[in-house]
Amino acid sequence: MQALKYIVEQIHTVVIATIDKNKEPITCAIDIMDYDTDSLYFLTAKGKNFYNRLKEHGRLAFTGVKGENTMSSIAVSVRAEAREIGTDYLERLFEENPYMYEIYPNEESRNALTVFQIYKGMGEWFDLSKKPIERGSFAFGMAEIEKTGYKVTQQCKGCGICQSVCPQNCIRFIEKRAVIEQKNCLHCGNCFAKCPYGAIIKKG
Ligand SMILES: Cc1cc2nc3c(=O)[nH]c(=O)nc-3n(C[C@H](O)[C@H](O)[C@H](O)COP(=O)(O)O)c2cc1C
Ligand code: SF4
Ligand code: SF4
Repeated sequence: MQALKYIVEQIHTVVIATIDKNKEPITCAIDIMDYDTDSLYFLTAKGKNFYNRLKEHGRLAFTGVKGENTMSSIAVSVRAEAREIGTDYLERLFEENPYMYEIYPNEESRNALTVFQIYKGMGEWFDLSKKPIERGSFAFGMAEIEKTGYKVTQQCKGCGICQSVCPQNCIRFIEKRAVIEQKNCLHCGNCFAKCPYGAIIKKG
């Protein structure tokens, strides 16, 4: 929920990827206007190609970034399912996002609008402003968290090579065995590539 709140209140405009009628990926900027415990909400107009793409596939992915430059930024990426819930929620979205009255100033102009709920998805939080970096996975609406990254297995001989090639210094040793601090890991794969014993495996 913290991530959903951050998307609405801090990022707000995200770039959403969908699939078009030729099965090609396409992106557009969309405002994520509200959230609750396990959903996000946005609106669009029924005449847009974006609307047709959502209706056809019901799936989307997006990334939003907040920060002044790369090293001060937090990115949140989400892969999810979305469904149209109609106009019941429209008034609330306008009240919470009053700038929308400038774009659609009167009742008639709002006729084409409809609301979508992003109701099930998984995502990743990636904070480059921290040193070492911080990342985390999350899921909402009964989706499962996707397993990504690397982990050290029982085959570890404690040689220390992985630690020497880790750019984030996020490998430590517990009882002479390497352990990756997952929340600080870039998923760069250096440790995986350099371990002479094949003791590091890809998760998922
Ligand atoms: C900052 C920003 C926010 C936007 N937010 C929305 C939005 O919330 N809903 C929407 O339908 N279009 C929004 N748009 C416009 C869409 O990005 C634009 O209509 C897009 O071209 C839709 O894709 P389509 O032309 O393939 O239908 C926004 C544009 C900008 C620049
Ligand atoms: S390089 Fe491989 S064997 Fe050596 S400490 Fe790291 S995980 Fe263990
Ligand atoms: S994947 Fe990269 S950042 Fe993560 S532990 Fe291995 S070397 Fe370090």
